[in-house]
Amino acid sequence: MTSRRSFLSKSVLGALAISDSQFIKNAFSGLNRSRSASLPMVIATWDNRKATQAAWDVLHTNGRALDAVEAGARIPEADPNDTSVGYGGFPDRDGHVTLDACIMDEFGMAGSVCFLEHIMHPISVARRVMEKTPHVMLVGEGALQFALEEGFEKTNLLTDTAREAWEKWKVKSEYKPVINIERHDTIGILALDKQNRIAGACTTSGMAFKMRGRVGDSPIIGAGMFADNEVGAAACSGLGEILLRTLGCYQVVEEMRRGAHPQKAAETTIRRIVQKYPEICQKNQVGFVVIDVKGRHGAYAIHPGFNFALYQNEQNLVFESDSHFKK
Ligand code: GLY
Repeated sequence: MTSRRSFLSKSVLGALAISDSQFIKNAFSGLNRSRSASLPMVIATWDNRKATQAAWDVLHTNGRALDAVEAGARIPEADPNDTSVGYGGFPDRDGHVTLDACIMDEFGMAGSVCFLEHIMHPISVARRVMEKTPHVMLVGEGALQFALEEGFEKTNLLTDTAREAWEKWKVKSEYKPVINIERHDTIGILALDKQNRIAGACTTSGMAFKMRGRVGDSPIIGAGMFADNEVGAAACSGLGEILLRTLGCYQVVEEMRRGAHPQKAAETTIRRIVQKYPEICQKNQVGFVVIDVKGRHGAYAIHPGFNFALYQNEQNLVFESDSHFKK
């Protein structure tokens, strides 16, 4: 399997290879990004260009941002080689793959599932929760029951690769709830469509070999993702426990509500998180992707190594995020 580090290097080289130098210069020049803003746009954590492509396929035909982010999130959910999301995700320490996801639309409506087992597309179940129930979140057995009632099929989500990794982990069974920048790639995906409708989605299998029942930030509205059609949206990847304590994505959107550019909003929020939890942040990663309703974007992480995919101006590219701590 490709290691996270070589994966990142290849991604950035890929972006450099398929783009002209001026575009790259603009993309890396922080606040100048606003000059290239145009709609539609979609951004995702990590090198999820297949996901941004799927979202773009919806957006460029005048589709709705909500449909775009769902289509995008379903790509890694179905990918057996993505060991942090959906099918193929690493299991908990008892060998069960448990999934978390949330989604928000342009009206501020939200749906979420957590601790969901046996269903390949938790993001689509989250959307059904939003659209077909009076609730926001369903958990565990209840979420599974709802998914089955809605016609989702029961699937074995534990691949041979994930089982082997778990068997290897069990030899020592060291429970170290540490997420580092090499292995965690929850997808958070945000879109703004041609009609200025915003939406966001986030989906994950969570921390590898976590305690049974552990839920991270990804299904929690405001922690793993937040979208507000008046302001913008944020999504993240990284150690869920930090984001649960800080409601990181909500903070980012509120920074924008006070007038901050998406890049500044991400930077301010990361700085606040690092100031509040300096020791935890020394060893753990959090990275945000952010858009505002003007079509501007930002990204920022605690540590180097976080990257993101952006599809805008007809180009689907990967960029390395700046970070609080430098190399
Ligand atoms: N950020 C995903 C998780 O911690 O579960």
